[in-house]
Amino acid sequence: MKLYSGSEDNFVIIGHRGASAYYPENTMAAFRAAYEMGAEMIELDILLSKDSVPVVIHDETLDRTTNGTGLVADYTLTELRKLDAGLWFGREHAGEHIPTLEEVLQFAKGKIALNIEIKTEAVTDDYLEGIEEKALNLVKKYEMEDYVLYSSFDYRAISHLKQLDVDISVALLYEKKQSTRRLPSELVEDYTADAFNCSRRQFTKRWAEDTQRHNIPVFVYTVNKERQMEKMIKRGVSGIFSDKPDLLRRVVDNM
Ligand code: G3P
Repeated sequence: MKLYSGSEDNFVIIGHRGASAYYPENTMAAFRAAYEMGAEMIELDILLSKDSVPVVIHDETLDRTTNGTGLVADYTLTELRKLDAGLWFGREHAGEHIPTLEEVLQFAKGKIALNIEIKTEAVTDDYLEGIEEKALNLVKKYEMEDYVLYSSFDYRAISHLKQLDVDISVALLYEKKQSTRRLPSELVEDYTADAFNCSRRQFTKRWAEDTQRHNIPVFVYTVNKERQMEKMIKRGVSGIFSDKPDLLRRVVDNM
């Protein structure tokens, strides 16, 4: 996986849902801000609209982050585009809409790498023509294959993506509440993933030793405090998801 920043220090500053501490998550305003604050990658979540267009929103329902209600999957793109995705965050953010994946790719190309998280709710066993293939085709259309890391909590998506194109980079996304005695290297091997994404709380010294020994890149979520950022960087992570990419940029620059 490549970065447009040309960063060679082997560490990636990732804006979690954009610069979501300051702007409504998963909106173009949050993505633009993350880029301007020095993020090298944007993390975004995708689901499918009723008419099967990949759209950028975290929750399965519209209720928390838009002025709509009910399931995202029950609305066509035209209907979703009429909703406000900024008002919930503050009146000054009114007018933001739910972006399409294509809109984010158009913005990101030549500027910033992407981590596309495929939400569990959109994954099915029939992956051809499913969300995985649709996302992949869009990324190819914008020739961003080298600048995208895919991830999902649904490990079916990981094998589907690898079946579609073995060369793409896919991270196994480890659920905070998941508990297993297995080591990251064993899980990554099982699913032929390229990286391991987990909560910072889970990333113990034991896991750090395991992933370093096996040369597995680790990206931890979601770190918004300076001391925790420093701790994770010292522990050897390859990148951090933060709602505050500006703070992470400062921490990285001062270390
Ligand atoms: O992809 C990293 C992190 O965003 C996973 O948690 O709940 O934000 O999708 P969530």
